Amino acid sequence: MSVHISAKKEEIAKTVLQPGDPLRAKFIADHYLTDAKLVSTTRNIFYYTGLYKGQEITVGASGMGVPSIGIYSYELYTEYEVENIVRIGTCGAYTPELKLFDILNVENAASESTYAKFAWEIDEEIISNQGNLFDVISHTAKELSLKTIPTNIHTSDIFYRKSAEVPQIATKYSCLAVEMEAFALFANAQFLGKNAATILTVSDIIPTREQISADERERALRTMMELALESALR
Ligand code: ADE
Repeated sequence: MSVHISAKKEEIAKTVLQPGDPLRAKFIADHYLTDAKLVSTTRNIFYYTGLYKGQEITVGASGMGVPSIGIYSYELYTEYEVENIVRIGTCGAYTPELKLFDILNVENAASESTYAKFAWEIDEEIISNQGNLFDVISHTAKELSLKTIPTNIHTSDIFYRKSAEVPQIATKYSCLAVEMEAFALFANAQFLGKNAATILTVSDIIPTREQISADERERALRTMMELALESALR
């Protein structure tokens, strides 16, 4: 048990897929895993461990935002000796060059967040994915004939804001999209010497206000989930 996860140590696999939403973790467990066991329900942040094509895997939520994923990924890496975390989430595109349903494989996350600096004395405002998961995802996507876009993204603390302009840091580091967690995940992994990747599906195009509808969400997210699960086998 850790402070925020009530699973026993042996109930968490070495590879964890981490959506933001606990119900998305449940969806993956229900649709893709065999022998899935609910191993933690603390704060309704569900963690399930089961088998995907015979390999043990855990799916569990990060919650929303840097503080939340900072806590869950740290406890998974340190208390449960997890080696690989793949965040699977949605993002808002800063440019209409990206399309709804595009899948991004994150190279680097840039952020105004002070998380990395004050947690780990990492002074950089841009942190790369960690280990070889990015390459594994990229190769797996090719094998599955799925297009992924390698790119930098902006990890922001802000979902609603006054200005419609692309934030300075996103322009500075050529970030095509915004989400709210990858920077903290990469910072924890860098500090702890672990592996971390982030796959994102474009759910909204900020300048045009297009959005994936509620009905389309399942289809959109399934492709990303399958890519993450298949990558976990490699
Ligand atoms: N995740 C999905 N869309 C987003 C947006 N517009 N801003 C931040 N995070 C997001």
